[in-house]
Amino acid sequence: MPRQESNRDVIPPDSETPRAQLSSFAQADIEYHLHSQTNLAQHRRRGPLVIVRGDGAYVVDEAGRRYLECMSGLWCASLGFSNERLAAAAKRQIDALPYYHTFNHRSNDVVSKLAEAIVRVVPLKSARVFFANSGSEAIDSMVKFAWYFHTASGNPRKRKVLSREKAFHGSTVMGASLAGLPAMHASFGLPIEGIVRIDCPHFYRYGEIGESEAEYTDRLINNLQTVIDREGADTIAAFIAEPIMGAGGVIVPPVGYFERVQQVLRQHDILLLSDEIVCGFGRTGTWFGCQSFGFEPDMMACAKGLSSGYVPISCVVMSGDIASVIEVRSGLERGFGHGFTYSGHPVAAAVALEALTIYQEMELPAVARRLGARLHERLDGMRSHPMVGEIRGTGLIAGIELVADKAARRPFVSDEEVGAQVEQAMRARGLIIRNMGDVIALCPPYIISDAQIDEMVAGLETALNEVHNRQIANG
Ligand SMILES: Cc1ncc(COP(=O)(O)O)c(C=O)c1O
Repeated sequence: MPRQESNRDVIPPDSETPRAQLSSFAQADIEYHLHSQTNLAQHRRRGPLVIVRGDGAYVVDEAGRRYLECMSGLWCASLGFSNERLAAAAKRQIDALPYYHTFNHRSNDVVSKLAEAIVRVVPLKSARVFFANSGSEAIDSMVKFAWYFHTASGNPRKRKVLSREKAFHGSTVMGASLAGLPAMHASFGLPIEGIVRIDCPHFYRYGEIGESEAEYTDRLINNLQTVIDREGADTIAAFIAEPIMGAGGVIVPPVGYFERVQQVLRQHDILLLSDEIVCGFGRTGTWFGCQSFGFEPDMMACAKGLSSGYVPISCVVMSGDIASVIEVRSGLERGFGHGFTYSGHPVAAAVALEALTIYQEMELPAVARRLGARLHERLDGMRSHPMVGEIRGTGLIAGIELVADKAARRPFVSDEEVGAQVEQAMRARGLIIRNMGDVIALCPPYIISDAQIDEMVAGLETALNEVHNRQIANG
């Protein structure tokens, strides 16, 4: 396969490639593979981008084209796409013990070490760790643990979960129900009962004219209190939140929001569950997003960066207070009716343990802060661009919201698919980003260089100009 070393002269991705020109991989993909989170009808016409190899911060497609992966895949390949230590850890573990389970008091040496290593970096007191395989499973487990905890504490009526508009918490029945994104519900008959929707904390979009950020936060907190009073605190188990909302559009909450939310929840014995699946393991410039935003969750769910995305593994970390209540109850019930065949899988655990070791050696949160400062400084130069409404993020994650009218903050008509046009224009330049509607997300691996950050931002600016000029030309 020819290897194209430069990522500059790549051929633009073809949106409607004739079937006969597609590779056998692409044809099989269209015929036999039902994709995740994809327009399936469009996929039949458009076909897949088939990635076959990783190389540092780059991925390489079947035609040898190289792309700088500005999203770490799906916010997860924190150490890039060719880390040899992670590969070696997987190989060593497959050779030593490829599978064992954690039911009925069974364990393995690596999962125990991984649990200890996680407990040493999390900000929860006397923490305990439960393992699963995907972010969604961790979210489902975390909600079940909240229910179990309240039942064990004599409050079985505490069942409802407060979740925010635009939240994303996965695709299983509970994860999708918690989502504040209509596409996760339409045609599935979701959400299930007991999910109570609350405000998305996005000042730029929902702050009112003349309202300060502090006044907006007051309003959010009053609304939260009103919802709790309406529903009855004795029926609410938990509040779930991503510190920065990822798939909803990289939404950063207003200053002081989480501290005040936490105060309200504590008054009502409502657990605070942090979805750290995107933010955890350094992304926001601290080990966990809750530390960047000043709150102390009762439990948190982690995945993605936990293994740098190399193998599926996720976990729920809970405070010692919750763990002891659960432990005592399970003793009374002579068992704990929860867990998965692959919970604590030794190969996944070995890779995650190695990833955690590498994060510590590279002094991860500081690296993310330094690279993030460069990213945000470069993005700052684009604030005056006519299509740029808001640039947001902290640490090595950013969202750029594109608008039709900058002064009025008026969004584009969704049919225009401006965000998707920018994504295509960047891909044609060898840069993979993600557009969530008209928000462009950047979440590169921690191994990205300063020069690559500059290349990513310069590519974004060129793509914006190209789409903007097309808009003007089309009137
Ligand atoms: C914040 C958040 N929570 C949960 C999930 C679900 O994770 P998974 O796709 O591994 O089930 C995701 C996935 O992108 C996520 O971004």
